[in-house]
Amino acid sequence: MSLDGDAALKQLEWLKNFDVFPKTVDDAKEASVSGGTVSVVVLFFMFLLLFTETSIFLKTNTKFEMEVDTMRGGMLQINFDISFPGLPCSVLSLDSMDVSGEHELDIVHDVYKRAMDSKGNALGPVISEKVKLARDALSISHIKEQLERHEGCNIYGTLNAQKVSGNFHLSLHAQDFHVLAQVFPDRATVNTSHIVNHLSFGRDYPGLKNPLDGEMKVLDQGSGTFEYYIKIVPTKFHHLDGTIIDTNQYSVTDHFRKLQDGFPAVYFIYDISPIMVRVKQWKQSFSHYATQLCAITGGMYVVTGQLHALSKFLWTKYYIGRKSFSSGLGI
Ligand SMILES: *[C@@H]1O[C@H](CO)[C@@H](O)[C@H](O)[C@H]1NC(C)=O
Repeated sequence: MSLDGDAALKQLEWLKNFDVFPKTVDDAKEASVSGGTVSVVVLFFMFLLLFTETSIFLKTNTKFEMEVDTMRGGMLQINFDISFPGLPCSVLSLDSMDVSGEHELDIVHDVYKRAMDSKGNALGPVISEKVKLARDALSISHIKEQLERHEGCNIYGTLNAQKVSGNFHLSLHAQDFHVLAQVFPDRATVNTSHIVNHLSFGRDYPGLKNPLDGEMKVLDQGSGTFEYYIKIVPTKFHHLDGTIIDTNQYSVTDHFRKLQDGFPAVYFIYDISPIMVRVKQWKQSFSHYATQLCAITGGMYVVTGQLHALSKFLWTKYYIGRKSFSSGLGI
């Protein structure tokens, strides 16, 4: 059996001519302390590089692409959650209006109000705007009582609007002008301080930032109208698994207008950017990762060899030089 094997090896003798691996002299095959030290240091760096490369491979990255949004139109979902610590629910209402002039007074899509005390704790039940008619017929004295108790209101929900420029605002439209005139004889006492707990346009995706979330505006004196100018950027989020989320990001600037005629309010004025952003998740391919691993191990192997040779060369030179120097002095 083994004889057969030997014979087979002999037959392949000619392959030796193609051997590219360098042959070292026997003397260089000896292990040395300096060689060991260099190897340990190099192994350390090699593992560091392998670790970094692996974490890059495992990481999910995102890239952004921009293009003109040719698919204008459709619907815009507005999710909001806003608290007014200084205004009771009985006077607050939500209206929306878009560029086509559709003014929906006191809209009742999917909007809820909840009374809260001055510290922001919920008082009483959640009230759907759909059952508001019976509830808002409160007497003037009742509303005044709520104001004296510093009752606030949390209003939240979802609006479906046309995907065109428009605005929605929170104002005192829930009551007639003559009621308001008696409840707020001085319009400067209408406290439009508010907290935007949440505002988004469409579905959430990993990494989405809503710049208005947590925004707090407190009026220490006087009153006025807050205006938020919002630029909505249509966004398509491409998940790693291929699913696409069709949603929006936004940027915002705001402006405060001191009390003029009429009652103060809070406006959210939005318009839609013609440029769309694609956010794509991606991962490094396995073949790239494998190539990196080979490059690191191979490269390190070569560098080690050269470092070791260099250190050996320098050491020998220094050592021999000193020896000959001292012997020359006769020491
Ligand atoms: C308006 O309400 C806020 C929150 O309750 C309060 O901090 C602020 O002092 C009030 N402003 C006025 C002018 O009463």
